[in-house]
Amino acid sequence: MRIYLSRPDITEKEIEAVSAVLRGPDLALGPKLVEFEEAFAEYIGTKRAVAVNSGTSGLFLCMLAMGIGPDDEVITTPFTFIATANTIMMAGARPVFVDIEPASLNIDPAKIESKITETTKAITPVEVFGNPAGFDKICEIAGKHNLAVIEDSCEALGSALNGKMAGTFGTMSVFAFYPNKQITTGEGGMILTDDDDLADMCVSLRNQGRGAGGGWLGHERLGYNFRLSDINCALGIAQLSRIDEIKAKRRQVAGWYQDMLADDDRLIVPAEPDGCDMSWFVFVVRLAEDFTLEQRDRILQHMKNQGIQVGNYFPPVHLMPFMVARFGYKPGDFPVTESVSRRTIALPFYNDLTKDQIAAVCTTLKGLLGK
Ligand SMILES: Cc1ncc(COP(=O)(O)O)c(C=O)c1O
Repeated sequence: MRIYLSRPDITEKEIEAVSAVLRGPDLALGPKLVEFEEAFAEYIGTKRAVAVNSGTSGLFLCMLAMGIGPDDEVITTPFTFIATANTIMMAGARPVFVDIEPASLNIDPAKIESKITETTKAITPVEVFGNPAGFDKICEIAGKHNLAVIEDSCEALGSALNGKMAGTFGTMSVFAFYPNKQITTGEGGMILTDDDDLADMCVSLRNQGRGAGGGWLGHERLGYNFRLSDINCALGIAQLSRIDEIKAKRRQVAGWYQDMLADDDRLIVPAEPDGCDMSWFVFVVRLAEDFTLEQRDRILQHMKNQGIQVGNYFPPVHLMPFMVARFGYKPGDFPVTESVSRRTIALPFYNDLTKDQIAAVCTTLKGLLGK
């Protein structure tokens, strides 16, 4: 038996779209870049979209475009993929962590205000595992304190809260297209905003600091090469055109897991929160509170030994050695994050996972839980 943790869903439509670009002359900065950006902005409902070569590049450019730099603080969550905090540090600013809310696993709105100081410039919340719960409250707090929101929507393409799409809460937002995401471009990311000046700045920064009229060798500012090729964009356009089908397939897979794992008090199984339209990114169960980190890791190892790929999303960001060395964080600083982190198991999750495969995963997991 071999069941993968994630798999992309590539059809003939994607293969044809990429092949068509390869048969033509425009491999970069061509029409597919514009088409992907326009289709993406329309789907999410923002004025502008700027494609980049990864979610990480996108978040970093948002920090720069918003003028965030040394001496600034940005509030974020320690329960996320490392890039959320890293991109704050890449801009020279300090990530200030706020613990999470245990049901949604998102930054706890009730704990944000006590961390706001005179040097706080922005909040970077993350729709963890695709869940937009609490984002209305986060934006309310940001508005009250005149803070920007840079929304890390890398895991939440297609999710919505009370009809409002993930990616429309922030002043700027970012999606990511690594192959485990809802849609993939191989590697890639997208910055979204309604602000033309911020979007234009990102267009310049992703392309060596070039200006609107300065030509290929006219550089107006320090810039980067964070461009996304037309080959990637063609793949993205074809994938985005299938987003409703992709969401439905993932919802089906999540539903099978929920059915098969329900009523087991050794597990906490994720559910779609009230008011949320979840676009499922991953399926992460939590062991009950009395399980230890060692027990969790043994279960992960046994599942891997039986050919079932599983993950430990996420270890606490504040306890990564370089964060401890730089900022002096220690165990106990963010107890909800730490308690959740040691009990998570990310199960295999992708569009074409079959009911039989899910049954095999669930039987294996339950057999390892003991008690
Ligand atoms: C929450 C979050 N932020 C940022 C990123 C970074 O995206 P990328 O891997 O495309 O750089 C990811 C992707 O893994 C993510 O899950």
